[in-house]
Amino acid sequence: MPFESIREYIDRLEDIGQLRHVKSKVSSDLEIGEILRRLVYKQGPSVLFENVDNYKMKVLGNAFGSIKRMEIALEMKRFEEIGERIVGLTRMEIPTSMIDKIKMLPKLSEITEYAPKTVNKGTVMENIGKANLLDLPALRSWPNDAGRFITFGLVLTKHPENNVRNLGVYRMQIIDEKKAIMHWQIHKRGAQHYLMKKEKNEKIEVGVIIGADPATIFAAVAPVPEGLDKYLFAGIVRKKGLRLVKCNTIDLEVPADAEIVLEGYVDPNDIRIEGPFGDHTGYYTPPEPYPTFHLNSIMHRDDPIYHTTVVGKPIVEDAYIGKVIERSFLPLIQMFHPEVIDFAMPAAGWFQGLAIVSIKKIYAGQAKKVMLGLWGLGQLSLTKIIIVVDHDINIHDMNDVIWAITTRVDARRDIIIIDNAPTDTLDPASPLLNLGSKLGIDATQKWKEEGYEREPQELSVVDNVTKELVDRRWKEYNLE
Ligand SMILES: Cc1cc2nc3c(=O)[nH]c(=O)nc-3n(C[C@H](O)[C@H](O)[C@H](O)COP(=O)(O)O)c2cc1C
Repeated sequence: MPFESIREYIDRLEDIGQLRHVKSKVSSDLEIGEILRRLVYKQGPSVLFENVDNYKMKVLGNAFGSIKRMEIALEMKRFEEIGERIVGLTRMEIPTSMIDKIKMLPKLSEITEYAPKTVNKGTVMENIGKANLLDLPALRSWPNDAGRFITFGLVLTKHPENNVRNLGVYRMQIIDEKKAIMHWQIHKRGAQHYLMKKEKNEKIEVGVIIGADPATIFAAVAPVPEGLDKYLFAGIVRKKGLRLVKCNTIDLEVPADAEIVLEGYVDPNDIRIEGPFGDHTGYYTPPEPYPTFHLNSIMHRDDPIYHTTVVGKPIVEDAYIGKVIERSFLPLIQMFHPEVIDFAMPAAGWFQGLAIVSIKKIYAGQAKKVMLGLWGLGQLSLTKIIIVVDHDINIHDMNDVIWAITTRVDARRDIIIIDNAPTDTLDPASPLLNLGSKLGIDATQKWKEEGYEREPQELSVVDNVTKELVDRRWKEYNLE
């Protein structure tokens, strides 16, 4: 059975020895941040800080800081299954007989099974009312951070026209009891919902969920296809629909057993300067204007657990969530680009920095077709550098990738640069905020049709007879 709440997940971590309790008094101002960083950099355990100076709530950190924990959290070992489920649901055959129609019924019931259900009661409703952002033990993680930030809030909005719900993890800088600056970057769905309301000079209702079941947290980070409700996506991940309850002051639904839910709105007429903030790139993102979230009301469980994370120079906790995104979205990439064999976003490149793709090339120029296609696909449009290699390259082995680049690339012929394209807001190198250039490296073996007039050199590989001979006699050489 999937986890219904982060508490069930914490219990599981406890059972398998992956959770530590810190009972000494610790400060949410820099100290917890440094403790968590030391743990995440060595894939250490999850931690529950039980005595946070000046705050009543316990703080959970490093909940997902290893692949092993992601496997436990999402109850699977092959994350590609997630994308395969989505692709499976979209593959509808045209029924030509009654039997065909009957065969389609399980697929329809699968969708019903994954869909969220609204219920009347949930443990998140145990405490409703008194709302004060200063009660949250939000961290100041880095010495030059502008203040205290909510870093793992799942920000819930509804598309103003089609009502599809989005969850995105966007950090929020706490200003006072009722206000926090909402750092939704321009390319993200939350910002787009907000801009649609802003055009009509309207505020947008926003819920912020802190501490939810792992699949919902994963859904908030995942760049799902446009139009897919993130609660439905979470249901697809967990193979079971979520239980939701209605908020009290806004027309939105939240997981019934969430730890904390903030209800409020973002006001387009209240813009403030957010940051600096020590970010995913390892640099402080400089101050920029963002709109302000206003808190109406709060719901929380008894003795709520405040879930947080720290970011910084890779490789930190978000790398493991990113790895799951990389694996789970491969089948979706292949839906649009069937020549793609594998896809990698190395964590050191903070995901939007670099993608490596292997393809089975069947026509000239295909590597460029794949690059250009990926630069037009959702959040992949923000990727700065794309390297395309042939299917004989293991893209998860950087030595293999470097070998392909250095033996199959001619700089003038195989490199493309696209100027003035959208870049990730966090990119410290782009000449302008959100605008910069893209680098594409076609590291596939070139053909005559691609302007390689020389006779291709033969790969030096061992012949089968010698290989079998040495295999057979290996023990005899006594080399182990
Ligand atoms: C810990 C963490 C913090 C993040 N902070 C931000 C943020 O402050 N602003 C932002 O736009 N995206 C942030 N992201 C990335 C988004 O959550 C991610 O792009 C997600 O797909 C949301 O995009 P969407 O709402 O368009 O689906 C963060 C991700 C993680 C894991």
